[in-house]
Amino acid sequence: MTERQRRLLRTFVRREGRLTQGQARALEALWPRFGLDCPASGALDLDALFGRCAPRVFDIGFGDGEALVEMAAGDPQRDFIGVEVHRPGVGHCLLCAEEADVHNLRVATVDGVDLLRHHMPPSSLDRVQAFFPDPWPKKRHHKRRLIQPAFLDLLAERLAPEGVLHLATDWADYAEWMVATLEPDPRFINSADPGPYWAGPPPRPRTKFERRGIAKGHAVYDLIYRFRPANSAAPR
Ligand SMILES: C[S@@+](CC[C@H](N)C(=O)[O-])C[C@H]1O[C@@H](n2cnc3c(N)ncnc32)[C@H](O)[C@@H]1O
Repeated sequence: MTERQRRLLRTFVRREGRLTQGQARALEALWPRFGLDCPASGALDLDALFGRCAPRVFDIGFGDGEALVEMAAGDPQRDFIGVEVHRPGVGHCLLCAEEADVHNLRVATVDGVDLLRHHMPPSSLDRVQAFFPDPWPKKRHHKRRLIQPAFLDLLAERLAPEGVLHLATDWADYAEWMVATLEPDPRFINSADPGPYWAGPPPRPRTKFERRGIAKGHAVYDLIYRFRPANSAAPR
């Protein structure tokens, strides 16, 4: 871990919220099927976890998980790892996963940055996505935003070459922040032409927070970058 990565701050405030009976049941009964428990130390064996070797998608902060389950159900050739600290959201996601009968999804209720840092093998991810991450609008809280140079360093260790980073936000100031963080980094190549934002419908379902933002009149910004390791010979 680099010194810069060590300085990454928590990107969330834990709010327990009330679990519905269904969510509480799901967290108990469906955990053996869909839950991901982190080992005390070391990288997870993802082939053993999913019972196969397939391209893998890592979703940080999936909220209620409906969009994540829809993506997993619609893309059975990939395996999906979702992480969310808000347990009612995780319970809801488990109920959706059961309903959709998906076989390619595992979820964790820990800090997604820690999971990525301590338990994901190097170059193991085909795509990392963070849809509508908390915008931390006050200037003094900007250091808590997920998208930081140190987070890009961590992604560079976990994404496979040519892997994708897909971000979306309805917070214009955070969208600009994301662009200002990513564009100077030569390891991340913007896939939008002319860019920086993806034009037209993005390749993902609509999320709960997105619907809320749209109802308030917010514009939505998608950013899709391809990871190209620093020593790669391929042209930009
Ligand atoms: C604004 S919500 C967006 C939820 C969902 N992606 C959507 O679009 O509906 C952000 C979510 O990220 C979660 N979150 C923030 N930081 C996280 C972290 N480091 N690890 C896991 N979840 C995190 C929060 O609990 C919250 O549910």
